[in-house]
Amino acid sequence: MRYDTPGLERWNSRAYDSSFGYVSTQGAPLVDLLDPQPGERVLDLGCGTGVLTAQIAFRGAEVLGIDGSSAMIEKALAQYPGMNFIVGDAHDFTVARPYDAVFSNAALHWMSRDPDAVIASVREALLPGGRFVAEMGGAGNCAELTTAMLTAWREHGLREPELPWYFPSPAEYARRLESEGFVVRLLEYFDRPTPLEECPGGAADWVRMFASSALDGLAPGLVDPLLRRVNELAAPALRRESGWMADYVRLRFAAVRR
Ligand code: BEZ
Repeated sequence: MRYDTPGLERWNSRAYDSSFGYVSTQGAPLVDLLDPQPGERVLDLGCGTGVLTAQIAFRGAEVLGIDGSSAMIEKALAQYPGMNFIVGDAHDFTVARPYDAVFSNAALHWMSRDPDAVIASVREALLPGGRFVAEMGGAGNCAELTTAMLTAWREHGLREPELPWYFPSPAEYARRLESEGFVVRLLEYFDRPTPLEECPGGAADWVRMFASSALDGLAPGLVDPLLRRVNELAAPALRRESGWMADYVRLRFAAVRR
């Protein structure tokens, strides 16, 4: 698909910016790792509301932001008039002219249907020697949150929901990158406990926000008790005096197209 057609919805763009602005704030070091140069052409894959796309543009690069959610792209266009944003599917896109770099923050784990197809599309969008610089959830990301969810579902006699994310180990993702024609220059794998500052309802709010598909089709009277149980189960690991923390684990890499 060329990047000019409507695509998928991921989550609510207003909540994304207000409650989860850390997605953008914590992405700033990744922009440093990208080190965009004036005049370079950069593609921001899974750009959300465009905050990091704008930071890259501020450094003088020419940037195109792409996201599967039309709500995100609408908001990005409204916030940054004059910048280029389009809706598209990362699994299947082509570009008219290859880029110097592809950047992606906190988005690749949502592109779970076929990670090799995503990497292959990125390769085709890059010039030889072009950089692929990204950060995503790595193996074990949100383990406490998802274990609490799955346990609560089982306790209520429900089939465990399928979770929509892909959290690879460093070895697995490096293998995929290499077999799709990249040389991995840097690969980091680290814990990043992240305050859920705007989540007064704790893990329950997180589920509503990020795993709402798991709630689809449940009897309305079941949702509240189920999410209360998620909170009870997650609280010992994730609730602090200062508030709730998400147990995020990051995979950060810089790779170069051969
Ligand atoms: C993450 O950024 O790691 C993430 C956020 C929401 C759901 C799953 C993962």
